[in-house]
Amino acid sequence: MRWLLLTTLVTMVGCTKPKADFMGAVVPVETPLGLPPVPDPAPAAAVALGKSLFFSPALSVDGSVACATCHQPEKGFADPRAGSEGVKGARGNRNAPSVWNAVYQHSQFWDGRAKTLEEQASGPMLNANEMGHTSNSVVASVRADPKFREMMAAAYGDDTVTMERIAKALAAYERILVRGNSPFDRFVFGDDPTAMTDEAQRGLKLFRGKANCATCHVIGKDYALFTDHQFHNLGVGMDATGELTDLGRFKITGQERDKGAFRTASLRNIAETAPYMHDGSLKTLKEVVDFYVGGGNANPQLDPLLRPLTMFTRQERADLVAFLESLTGEVKP
Ligand code: HEC
Ligand code: HEC
Repeated sequence: MRWLLLTTLVTMVGCTKPKADFMGAVVPVETPLGLPPVPDPAPAAAVALGKSLFFSPALSVDGSVACATCHQPEKGFADPRAGSEGVKGARGNRNAPSVWNAVYQHSQFWDGRAKTLEEQASGPMLNANEMGHTSNSVVASVRADPKFREMMAAAYGDDTVTMERIAKALAAYERILVRGNSPFDRFVFGDDPTAMTDEAQRGLKLFRGKANCATCHVIGKDYALFTDHQFHNLGVGMDATGELTDLGRFKITGQERDKGAFRTASLRNIAETAPYMHDGSLKTLKEVVDFYVGGGNANPQLDPLLRPLTMFTRQERADLVAFLESLTGEVKP
């Protein structure tokens, strides 16, 4: 009823808001081996617009940074720098996660502060340390390019540029960035016993067994996202005095137990996305495994699931690394 009134009112005064809904039939996205079906795929014109925007420096206030500057396709859509560098050399203190398979996450960002990709997308554009725009200036900057106006018209039916449309198109592109069919997927879900090396197979057993990784990095029956979608404190990011340098999930919930907790990362394509953890403090997968063998960093909120892995041999550490390296998926042209 409220809606009806509002729509009538809007129609009466003649200021209809441009629709943010896409035009055209949805292009089906093939589900890669080891992953669930892709939620809410968009039409091709929307994906094309989103892709152009993702690689365009017009989304940053001084034209120096694109989404792809920090989410680099050849680095697993992540950032090889520990902290990303935004406009005017501003340094962030978090490592950019991969956007491959981000569509499957129940929340976005290390602290889960955005629910959806659509909601996430405006974050970096309006962040002073990342792209530094205001919502008016980003709209003006995109509108200034006739190519974008043309693509807007193809995707939405008219060439009006709005923040909502920009965010939706970026998310439409990210929704097709799904990547599975790794050696692990072929071994576990494709029943190919030769897909993984012996070392990686032993690593998988440890991962599910005595190393206790799969409790948080979940491997399901029909697919594996390697995350429980929860937040845990591993003690990553402590200064010399033992204080947590980033309170993580606590800043969103205000709950004591969330101090220093971050979202369980998906481990897919992990060999491509060094450095590791929310602050990029661990440089190699070997360092990550050594960190877990040590039981994480002691602090009052350390997750009880983490404890030192005793009697863990050098071979077992190498097996776990080999397993993590078997999670690199296939890239479709
Ligand atoms: C200056 C570097 C930088 C730029 C530019 C940037 N990002 Fe990010 N991105 C990051 C960092 C760092 C994070 C993690 C921040 C956090 O968790 O607080 C992130 C997180 C994300 C996430 C969440 C992924 C996850 O696993 O939770 C998505 C999706 C994303 N960015 C997409 C984009 C899009 C789309 C753009 C362009 C509009 C963009 N990013 C521009 C650095 C950047
Ligand atoms: C208590 C839950 C939990 C357990 C158990 C666990 N992890 Fe994690 N893992 C996480 C969380 C949470 C993060 C992100 C932590 C952060 O950045 O502060 C993470 C991060 C990682 C990363 C880095 C991801 C990235 O993109 O930077 C790797 C690699 C990893 N874990 C591997 C493992 C392995 C191997 C094991 C078993 C030895 C394991 N994890 C056990 C919760 C867990």
